[in-house]
Amino acid sequence: MEKLVIRGGRPLSGTVSISGAKNAAVAILPAALMAHGPSVIENLPDIEDVHLLADIFTRMGAHVEFEGESMRVDPNGMVNPRADFSQVSRLRASYYLLGAMLGRFGHAEVALPGGCDIGLRPIDLHIKGMEALGAVTRKEGGILYASAPNGLRGADIYLDFASVGATINIMLAAAQAEGLTEISNAAKEPHVVDVANFLNCLGASVKGAGTDVIRIRGSKHLSGRSYAIIPDQIEAGTYMIAAAAAGGDVVIRNVIPTHLEAVTAKLMEMGFQVTEGDNGSEFFMRVVSDGKRPRSVNIKTLPYPGFPTDLQQPIMSLLARGRGTSEVVENIFEDRYKQVPNLCRMGADISVNGRVATVKGTEELSGCPVAATDLRAGAALVIAGLMARGTTTIDHVEYIDRGYAHIEAKLRSLGADIERLP
Ligand code: UD1
Repeated sequence: MEKLVIRGGRPLSGTVSISGAKNAAVAILPAALMAHGPSVIENLPDIEDVHLLADIFTRMGAHVEFEGESMRVDPNGMVNPRADFSQVSRLRASYYLLGAMLGRFGHAEVALPGGCDIGLRPIDLHIKGMEALGAVTRKEGGILYASAPNGLRGADIYLDFASVGATINIMLAAAQAEGLTEISNAAKEPHVVDVANFLNCLGASVKGAGTDVIRIRGSKHLSGRSYAIIPDQIEAGTYMIAAAAAGGDVVIRNVIPTHLEAVTAKLMEMGFQVTEGDNGSEFFMRVVSDGKRPRSVNIKTLPYPGFPTDLQQPIMSLLARGRGTSEVVENIFEDRYKQVPNLCRMGADISVNGRVATVKGTEELSGCPVAATDLRAGAALVIAGLMARGTTTIDHVEYIDRGYAHIEAKLRSLGADIERLP
């Protein structure tokens, strides 16, 4: 197990480049298994979840090759739609193997998903969607078995909650079903649109992604293609918050500014200077901060285009130094405040009551040993460490590595005093 050691108080300056979107990658890679031929997925982030998926695919008989930030996935040798339990149970997005395998083979066996412990995270809406498409499912010994002996058929599916995972999973299965599927109250997150674009490249017809009604006409003849995934809006937002927190002047390259509107608006409300630009080949965001205490603001997490739950934890570290009291309401997950005890150890004054956290700003945080409990809680502690006086040691870096490529190298290039220790 490795640790990050951060000696705080240094402003950040320079340019950082954002990697491909984790949440798009973990859906688009399984989608590549549905094609009858190889695909090359470009702009992949170098993170644990991607490497885990590559391993799972190999064990299923697919051929996988990395070249820099690209992965060539050739599903032709794949005969086994059964994903290895020990690996799949470590990965939240393993549920996408269900939709992808069910459509391709007519049956699938997937261990119930693991990933970050931030609440109950049921997958009933995924299962309801698969059943509406004609699958029969049962859970036994931590494994979900699904089969559709007569093939999948398009259906009208209403989601009780605009779940990102369920929307994408149903899109994957429906892209191989016979006839038309309509998903109502669909999630509108950027990676839903990215997966739809990839499915369209493969030969399916997906219309309406990015709105709350998506129509999918399936095809049994999907072909492999090359596709570059979008930049990671959460990684970009995390570096924007880090720049604001540590103080300095940072340009965040390879971003899609419209995906960052909620975090941009909040940082500006807090008093930071945030501008977007276009250097001719890519868009960038620039965050300028004098490192002083920000204005306190209230945050409510909401489905896209609202403030993303994945940035609630990182921005809380910044609010901890606010010049007043902030109220944070977490509307997506019921237990996503595991960063709070660690931030309080560093001197923050935060109390949690159900889904509401009250953050009373303090003059400064001080470094101490803390531990990441989940991916975004880990990011929150890194940001707190950059702001804090003294040394912060963060245990369980493996959580952070699940979603942030080369975090210490990227921060070091901006001038942070951060190192990884075994
Ligand atoms: C995805 C993202 C995650 C992000 C979240 C919300 C991936 C791999 N992960 O997670 O980073 O924080 O979207 O933007 O893309 N729910 C149900 N039943 C279901 C499915 C979900 O009740 O079948 C509930 C969940 O418990 C949660 C809420 O719906 O309270 C949102 O979940 P969902 O949008 O599905 O998130 P994930 O796909 O798990």
